Amino acid sequence: MQKKLIPKKSKPEELDEEDAKKPAKGTPELLRGFRDILPEEQGRWNLIRDTVRALAEAYSFDRIDLPVLERSDLFQRTIGKSTDIVEKEMYVFTDPSNRSVALRPEATASAARAYIEHGMLERPQPVKFWYEGPMFRHDRPQAGRYRQFYQAGLEVFGAEEPIIDAQLILIGKKFFEAIGLPVKVQINSIGTPECRSAYLTELVSYFRPFRSKLPEDDKRRLQKNPLRLLDSKEEYTMGLLGDAPQILDWLDEKSKEHFMRVIEFLDEVEIPYELNAHLVRGLDYYTHTVFEFMPEGEEGEKAQSALGGGGRYDGLVGLLGGRPTPGCGFAIGMDRIARALADKGINPPQCPPAQVFFAQLGDAARRVGLRLYEQFRAAGIPVAEAAGKNALKAQLEVANKLGVGLTLILGQKEVLDGTIIIRDMESGAQETIDASKVVSVVERKLQKESGVTPAIHSPVSDV
Ligand code: HAM
Repeated sequence: MQKKLIPKKSKPEELDEEDAKKPAKGTPELLRGFRDILPEEQGRWNLIRDTVRALAEAYSFDRIDLPVLERSDLFQRTIGKSTDIVEKEMYVFTDPSNRSVALRPEATASAARAYIEHGMLERPQPVKFWYEGPMFRHDRPQAGRYRQFYQAGLEVFGAEEPIIDAQLILIGKKFFEAIGLPVKVQINSIGTPECRSAYLTELVSYFRPFRSKLPEDDKRRLQKNPLRLLDSKEEYTMGLLGDAPQILDWLDEKSKEHFMRVIEFLDEVEIPYELNAHLVRGLDYYTHTVFEFMPEGEEGEKAQSALGGGGRYDGLVGLLGGRPTPGCGFAIGMDRIARALADKGINPPQCPPAQVFFAQLGDAARRVGLRLYEQFRAAGIPVAEAAGKNALKAQLEVANKLGVGLTLILGQKEVLDGTIIIRDMESGAQETIDASKVVSVVERKLQKESGVTPAIHSPVSDV
């Protein structure tokens, strides 16, 4: 039974030396390229998730949840055997039933599988899905590139009209506007497999005389996946691209017409875009329109990494054995977006901060506290506590750190009397009130903009 989670074709020297060096014993540490998204980051993640969800619902996309683990051939057949993702980056392993499975590197292939598997061709078309979740690619970790990262995506199956491409780009642009990150749309068309094949012959003839000088990776691309030469990051190759044949000149009439219409629609809704003749994307299933959302502004442009990307994939469902069905979609990289938000100092709170703190003295007070909590929850007022601490002083210190306006104090005496003390944390003033009225009194005090009313002083022994 083989259960090793290693990328399929890793040579020993490509294995992560840093991870391999980690001691097996001692405190377990994160694997390289994996990370925890801590509570203090969750405000930004909530903003991203809530915005995606609101937009997807506004445009009538239905949520779909797809498994993290799929048969590995799903990705080999769709993303393409000679792509970096399939060749080098997939976490492929044999499961206990001796099947070759992979942690999904993306979700479009899974969405197409689900569309076929659940007979969605029979539903009213187009079928529109949205999803979010973790993806896995064993790429070299660096800023904005992780081995487990999160995407949110929108996919439309069963519509070939160019308006779909344009509307998806519009939704993506609206998403970035809504969260406050300016992006540039880059767009290109890579036509149909037929016109692409004539173009590739031309592209390969153009590069062949330079073959011996090409960097190793690009030599391999020239042989296996020449289209990817267009987005090579190697200086030598990039220098040759200026005179290279351009795919737009090789598009057939139908592909040209499709692309022109997408662009016309974008003009109509005033979405600015840049034509990028070198944009080809790293997945083989695309046809016609491809696009990316690039960060704008100095920092983002330096990073040169897309915050999202997508395109049309009219052959994908057919590739998987389904009745040929057109499709188009895009996904955004949530980690990169969260990072860009942090760089801009956008830091929304994870949840509304507690306005009230509950301090107890003894077990009887703790018991009453349980009921009080429920009453405040029903009233929608978040309450914090430090149940692990016994001394009032220590509890008040926590309340101070949390920055709450009011602390409720319940000691033995108050439990017996059916009362509770309310302390204004700013002035230190305290008043004792009937415990049964505490929620309405607190509500009133919180509503008052100018803070709490003057206290009827009632000191507690160890305040
Ligand atoms: P992709 O361009 O491979 O497309 O990924 C989409 C986005 O995911 C990227 O623009 C980037 O923001 C983010 N991303 C990719 N790899 C990483 C990584 N290693 N670490 C952090 N973020 C990353 C797709 O996956 C297609 N399925 C998109 C699509 C949907 N096309 C049609 N429908």
